[in-house]
Amino acid sequence: MPYAHVTGWGMSVPHKVMTNDDLSKIVDTNDKWIREHSGIHERHIASEGETSASLGAAAAFNALGMAGILPTDLDLIICSTSTPEHIFPATACLIQDKLGASNAGAFDLSAACTGFIFALNMAAQSIRTGSAKSILVIGTETLSRFVDWTDRNTCILFGDGAGAFVVQANEKPGGIMGAVMHSDGSGGEFLSIPAGGSAQPASEVTVNAGLHFIHMNGREVFRFATRVMVQATLEAAKKSHWETEEISLIIPHQANLRIIDAAARGLKFPLEKFMINLEKYGNTSTASIPIATVEAFNQKKLKAGDKVILVGFGAGLTWGSLALEWSGPLPSTHYIKADWFKPWARLRSFLLRILRIFEGFLSRNES
Ligand SMILES: CC(C)(COP(=O)(O)OP(=O)(O)OC[C@H]1O[C@@H](n2cnc3c(N)ncnc32)[C@H](O)[C@@H]1OP(=O)(O)O)[C@@H](O)C(=O)NCCC(=O)NCCS
Repeated sequence: MPYAHVTGWGMSVPHKVMTNDDLSKIVDTNDKWIREHSGIHERHIASEGETSASLGAAAAFNALGMAGILPTDLDLIICSTSTPEHIFPATACLIQDKLGASNAGAFDLSAACTGFIFALNMAAQSIRTGSAKSILVIGTETLSRFVDWTDRNTCILFGDGAGAFVVQANEKPGGIMGAVMHSDGSGGEFLSIPAGGSAQPASEVTVNAGLHFIHMNGREVFRFATRVMVQATLEAAKKSHWETEEISLIIPHQANLRIIDAAARGLKFPLEKFMINLEKYGNTSTASIPIATVEAFNQKKLKAGDKVILVGFGAGLTWGSLALEWSGPLPSTHYIKADWFKPWARLRSFLLRILRIFEGFLSRNES
């Protein structure tokens, strides 16, 4: 049975940075309160033209470049997002088109901030069963488009960004060793966007009531998060037959420094064992774990053979954890700058659209 190795990783965040001081000019808050209650100093906010698909595609190109494979080598694209571009088509399909990944099936996965762990686990399963060999897993969010910028309880927490992993089959032992996934829909109302789906379609009433924004019961989410982080971490380690002392790094969902601190105390681990970068990005939901992984690698906190736990929680409620034996880039057969593929992908998409118009014209003439 092949092992599922993470062979490429990449991230992309919008250029625009919003500091706590910037926020204090639009809502009744201040830098001191935000730092003390969340650990966040600033976040990146998407500008016009930056979307979940554009950020996701940029992160994906970086991950493909690192793995040294072409978009056309991909069999599958899984995009985890809670801020898709549309209800349908899937954001994964928009990214597939931007990449020119002509051989890949593509679908979205919705498990909020835990989504990247769920998606990685699905990718690993597809590789183990032999149904796919090269998979792109993306976590991408433009939460700023769904935040009520007059609600100080929520708008201080979130940011935009994307991260991506390439997961590939290899006979060498290692990679994704085990994962746990949990859900509890009875807590769904604690963190939600109430309207815009089939239960409450968009109407003047839903818009005026602010039901298309993120609604959150911060205290309940906090209590839930501190409870499940330790439990999920231990579960994934046990499933992978790892002793807790063997874990070299924990890469948690970057929601709140106090939540990570509580998890560290629960696990009796020093805080240094946790990758933390939420001060720069805020909570980027499903993108936070891959972004933190990329930065952990850049900061030389990851080396081949390290036993790493990814752990997250979020709306749903959902929570989960994944044990990853870090592979490092496996020797790739060829060096490719995936970015070079961008103009080709754009041309491919353009030609497909022209071809469709031409086919439509021909079929009208035939009927
Ligand atoms: C949201 C969160 C930071 C609030 O922190 P908290 O310590 O629980 O703060 P509280 O809600 O108890 O509010 C304490 C006080 O600060 C005030 N306050 C709330 N937000 C504020 C802000 N942005 N600036 C200044 N004051 C604020 C409250 O009004 C309250 O004032 P009061 O005591 O006079 O009523 C915290 O609950 C949290 O992080 N929850 C988890 C959220 C999360 O991670 N969500 C995403 C999950 S994926």
